[in-house]
Amino acid sequence: MNFKTTLISVLFITLSIPINAQEVPLQKTSLVGNRIVEFIPKGFDKSKTPSLILASEPKSKGKVPLDWTLIPEFRFQNNKAGAVLNLQGNISLYGGGEVTGPLLRNGQSIKLWNTDTGAYSVEGGKRLYQTHPWVMGVRPDGSAFGIIFDSTWKAELITNSDQIIYNSEGALFRVYLIDRESPQEVIKGLSELTGTIKLPPRWALGYHQCRFSYDSEKRVMEIADTFREKKIPCDVIWMDIDYMQGYRVFTFDSIRFSNPKRLNDNLHKKGFRAVYMIDPGVKVDKDYDVYQSGSQNGVWVMKNNGEEYHGKVWPGDCVFPDFTDPKTRNWWGGLYKDFLNTGIDGVWNDMNEPAVNDNDFPEDKRLGTMPYDTPHKGGGNLPQGPHLLYHNAYGRLMVEASYNGILKTNPDKRPFLLTRSNLLGGQRYAATWTGDNYAGWDHLKLSVPMSLTLGLSGQPFNGPDIGGFLGNTDGDLWANWLSFGAFMPFARGHACAGTNDKEPWAYGAAIEKTSRIALERRYRLLPYLYTLFYESSKTGLPVMAPVFFADSKNSSLRDEEQAFLLGENLLVVPSFAKKPKLPSGIWEELNLIEGEQNDKYQAKLKIKGGSIIPAGKVIQNAGENSFDPLSLYVCLNEKNTAKGELYLDAGDGFGFEKGDYALVTFAAERKNDTVLVKVAKTEGKRNSSAEIQKINVNLLLNGKIYIGSGTLKKGITVTLK
Ligand code: GLC
Repeated sequence: MNFKTTLISVLFITLSIPINAQEVPLQKTSLVGNRIVEFIPKGFDKSKTPSLILASEPKSKGKVPLDWTLIPEFRFQNNKAGAVLNLQGNISLYGGGEVTGPLLRNGQSIKLWNTDTGAYSVEGGKRLYQTHPWVMGVRPDGSAFGIIFDSTWKAELITNSDQIIYNSEGALFRVYLIDRESPQEVIKGLSELTGTIKLPPRWALGYHQCRFSYDSEKRVMEIADTFREKKIPCDVIWMDIDYMQGYRVFTFDSIRFSNPKRLNDNLHKKGFRAVYMIDPGVKVDKDYDVYQSGSQNGVWVMKNNGEEYHGKVWPGDCVFPDFTDPKTRNWWGGLYKDFLNTGIDGVWNDMNEPAVNDNDFPEDKRLGTMPYDTPHKGGGNLPQGPHLLYHNAYGRLMVEASYNGILKTNPDKRPFLLTRSNLLGGQRYAATWTGDNYAGWDHLKLSVPMSLTLGLSGQPFNGPDIGGFLGNTDGDLWANWLSFGAFMPFARGHACAGTNDKEPWAYGAAIEKTSRIALERRYRLLPYLYTLFYESSKTGLPVMAPVFFADSKNSSLRDEEQAFLLGENLLVVPSFAKKPKLPSGIWEELNLIEGEQNDKYQAKLKIKGGSIIPAGKVIQNAGENSFDPLSLYVCLNEKNTAKGELYLDAGDGFGFEKGDYALVTFAAERKNDTVLVKVAKTEGKRNSSAEIQKINVNLLLNGKIYIGSGTLKKGITVTLK
């Protein structure tokens, strides 16, 4: 660096530091992965800011590359640590996890303080249930970078077009920067640092039906039976808080849910799974075994004066497990044993910001939760620290405890856990949904960029309450929402207490038909969707991706937030989309169900030139045989070839980790008037030929369909005449 550039950069740094802030020099920078650099400020102390985001402690892999340009600046302002990344040129910004507002985040700011925010109304939607101190930038040439602020302290994240600013209310923290050739490579880098989702059980990719609450065994079975009678595909029925005895977690109402085992068995017989809610607040009740056991084991959050901290949630006065303590996490995990042994298949952790009503304490020193200075014990790698440090990690630590407890109870099943609150990296333990939206057109439209942004922030397994949770839903809104919501990674209809019925048949015969078609389309695509989840569990890439992923050099696609991609090969254009910006190249319309073209609500599906999409037949739940036959939708590229993958395994359990899976790569090539589709490669030990006896090929070319059939071994020939 010569004198002139030094002067310019000194001036630049001075300009980017606010007047009353003190600059903190760097102590250490090291390469910790492929084009991933760790920045440690002088004075950083792990016992003040532990990492709850990273999957493991990064190891130095050598020196920072000589061409490295992205350098954060650390600073202290009124004893609170922050960092800034100055941006050069025209950068498109994304990320921040769970956010309202646009997909393109230039000129936005969010508050990182996990909050129960009905209708996203708190602070104008800037403060939601989760914390993701992560931003990705895409340059005009399509290359990209990402920045992690590795802190859980209460904070603000500002994404100006020329600066990314993170202001925390706590101690110094580390920063990680990834600089790679494409946004996809940057997201892979994010998952190298923070981990990926675990492969979910296949049933979790089906449709889920929920309500606050189906409030008796009888009502639950009525709902389940109606799905089967009406032949509307569905895999899961959800039990919201009213199944409990007076909202005491890990109990069942002695009258309305007197025999949960019977209920769960009956659901299983009909091909359903049962997911039950568990909140963190434990009712203060001396006669309640969970309260007794927690008190004996010393697991509760205690106040500075040594008394139990009490706050109000559904059951009234509650205590809260201190999940920072490994002993508490272990104790909590153990509670799932008897509970799950009733045949429960999945768990829903809610209110885990934690959302607390504490009438004894001023709101500005607790913001919807326990007071900032409430101490947490820590233990293991975690230091003792105040709630201001641990609040944003409370949900994440809770789901770690739940996940491990669920897995311990059923070591041969893949846990399915849904959480409302979480932290960047928390995808390692739980799927998520976007909390309490409402039944309105603005939230319907918002659900697309919200889900996309979570996917760009390491959490591919997410979706909204389809139909809208708060307020009444009319048939038109429901039909519009389900018709594209059916293609979101997590597809669940939900409804708040006191609102109208929101099941697919609740709006009359015409909307029921629309709902059936939408869900039949999802179920036909389950083989493709399951393959995408498998890939995501390996790479961290989103299942539902923004349109600009199709061509990150094309800057006109950067703000498209109506249409979205499912994997790389399928484009979903919701019926509400007005003038969506779509990628160029060959994209043929894909039709999966008879009648869908005449239904004004259905989203348009387009398959990318050069790809092969595997689909099954219409089934009523993910446990039924989908491959009788397997369909392959083939769309050739300009070179007259196409390729696609199909992943299959037992659908649950961990046999796939020992090779009991098949990853089949199909390839198609046109020669004159024939197209040959064959298996190009198979990975894994599973005998796919035994599972797939017959294959039908639908070749889509210039708006026409050509068909052929065959087997895995022999391949399929399609004649273009
Ligand atoms: C919270 C959840 C919502 C649930 C309700 C009752 O508001 O976000 O999904 O139905 O609590 O448990």
